Amino acid sequence: MRSLRDTSPLHMVIVGHVDHGKSTLIGRLLHDSGSLADGKKEEIEKICHARGVPFEWSYLLDAFQAERNQAVTIDATHLHFHSAKRRYVIIDAPGHREFLKNMMSGAGHADMALLVIDGAEGLQEQTRRHMVMLSFLGIKNVMVIINKMDRIDYSPAIFHDLSKQVNDMIVTRGLVPLGVIPAVAHAGDMLVHRGNNMDWYMGQTLIEALDQVPVQKSNDKHPARFVVQDIYRMGGVRYLAGRAEGQPIKIGDQLIFQPGGETSCVQEIKVWPDQNILTSAQNGQSVTIALEDRIFVERGYVGAPVQDAPPLRDHVRLSLLWLSDKPLRVGQTYLFRTGLSETPATVQAIERVIDTQTGQDQLDQVELVKNTAGQVVFTLRDPLPLDPFTGHVRLGRAVIEDNGDVVAAGLINLDGLLPVSQGTKNTSPHIYRVSHPVTHDMRFKKSGYRGSVFWLTGLSGAGKSTLAMAVERILFEKNYPVYVLDGDNVRHGLNADLGFSAVDRTENIRRVGEVAGLMADAGLIVVSAFISPFQADRDRARTAAQGRFHEIYIKADIGTCESRDPKGLYKKARAGNIADFTGIDSPYDIPLYPELTIDTQTQDIDTCVRQIFTYIEQHASAFPAPGYEKDL
Ligand code: ADX
Repeated sequence: MRSLRDTSPLHMVIVGHVDHGKSTLIGRLLHDSGSLADGKKEEIEKICHARGVPFEWSYLLDAFQAERNQAVTIDATHLHFHSAKRRYVIIDAPGHREFLKNMMSGAGHADMALLVIDGAEGLQEQTRRHMVMLSFLGIKNVMVIINKMDRIDYSPAIFHDLSKQVNDMIVTRGLVPLGVIPAVAHAGDMLVHRGNNMDWYMGQTLIEALDQVPVQKSNDKHPARFVVQDIYRMGGVRYLAGRAEGQPIKIGDQLIFQPGGETSCVQEIKVWPDQNILTSAQNGQSVTIALEDRIFVERGYVGAPVQDAPPLRDHVRLSLLWLSDKPLRVGQTYLFRTGLSETPATVQAIERVIDTQTGQDQLDQVELVKNTAGQVVFTLRDPLPLDPFTGHVRLGRAVIEDNGDVVAAGLINLDGLLPVSQGTKNTSPHIYRVSHPVTHDMRFKKSGYRGSVFWLTGLSGAGKSTLAMAVERILFEKNYPVYVLDGDNVRHGLNADLGFSAVDRTENIRRVGEVAGLMADAGLIVVSAFISPFQADRDRARTAAQGRFHEIYIKADIGTCESRDPKGLYKKARAGNIADFTGIDSPYDIPLYPELTIDTQTQDIDTCVRQIFTYIEQHASAFPAPGYEKDL
């Protein structure tokens, strides 16, 4: 016989107005289904007795809450119980906002919702809002409990009237009603046992009805993914530690690791951390894998079967709940985080705004204010391999951060959005790309160095050239194929025709960005030192380098730079002898999301040089010094 353990549990979220009896229902359900540990109820009764308060079922939940608060390893939001047929996971949703956050931020998925309504109170505004949220989250199936039937004298008439209202409400929100059940949670009527008070009701008890609800397609049917958490070295072998998602990953499988795009076959799989050797990694299992080839992989990369890999995306739509006091508007840039990857993301369009009170679409809204929900399309600075929520329940979620605060959680929806196109557009119809027989990856495998651009930006006098030259020296000594592109130098040759107007600066950075990209493609480690005052120009240079680009902000404020004034230019600019001087009468966009910030104002040069060198070593070498890949 199959034991209960072998069956997939049904996940259900319980929603309803605060006072409508959710906690009592959960406590009683746990007890009546025989899911409580022996003596648990008696223990609570004793405490109640000692305190001189009557026993209440909801205290059970409080007790669990207290236990969970102590035991950090226990999942903070899930309660488990079982019927004779199968296991259940209740996702406890204490409040409206908590519920949304919980559902959107990855606490899990729900196969259905159980809506609890107080029979004496009827439908409330909060109930309607919960329905909007359910439809927004794609939780379609809703079962309803009309609770506290004792308060309305077990009236069939009121029950039928309420059932009709609630069914209408569910259907008009595009949800599927699974049935309405009258109950008295505190007495246990119609939960597991029928009780003696509602003989007129011919339908199923709650537990009978729940046992009929199908479990959604489980995560292990989705295509295989391997999200890299860490990279280790053990006995000379490099291991990628991470979690398998979806279908099993087997020895011999050829995986592509995005966004880098390099492929290799799985050579070895071990359980993490006990080191047992496996032939495959199953959905949800944390393992380490060794690959046949030494390819470039970093934390956050996603491995997938070559024939079924998620394409890279630079546009993504999120169904999200906005939590910040500052409204979300088109053109604003935030940090988009999914799995272990992150990238700056600019709001391109707000497609829908939904009032979470009424569930109405707000057609005239051009921004998302706090606690409204919406569908928003973002442009991602760095393309990422993304799976939609419907394709991968666990991976299809994201959060949006603003200055380190989570301001939204959402579900990824890629409908109608195209993946990143492979080629760059030609300006003339008569120009065709010729492919190189020697690729960037081949160069990387041969030399062990990944050609990349390390783009130093900052005010004149911030220390860009000094640091770039010092880092070049160290990298050269360590045999890195390194070259520094420096503003003052390039302006003597390639860009001798350019001045310092905004247009000329943009052209300066465009040319240098293209050159740096070519050099990186050729396998060189390029360290560039340009003021590059405009974020848009730096972003274009990033694109030219095909993502092998690291923006490093050399940070020193104008006062500090002016007091250093190594070339005496600030003095001249102040005297009116140089026009358009950056920081004086020409602007500088502070990098929004640099990969690295080096503070030259408070740190000495050696420290700054070491920080840049370490960063470059971590990101450009196949064989970084011990310490980066943790030696075990
Ligand atoms: S950028 O703005 O186009 O990126 P770039 O880095 O190439 O500038 O050149 C900056 C260098 O040119 C400065 O370090 C400084 O020595 C010199 N320079 C001359 N005139 C200006 C100016 N008006 N503004 C900034 N730098 C200037």
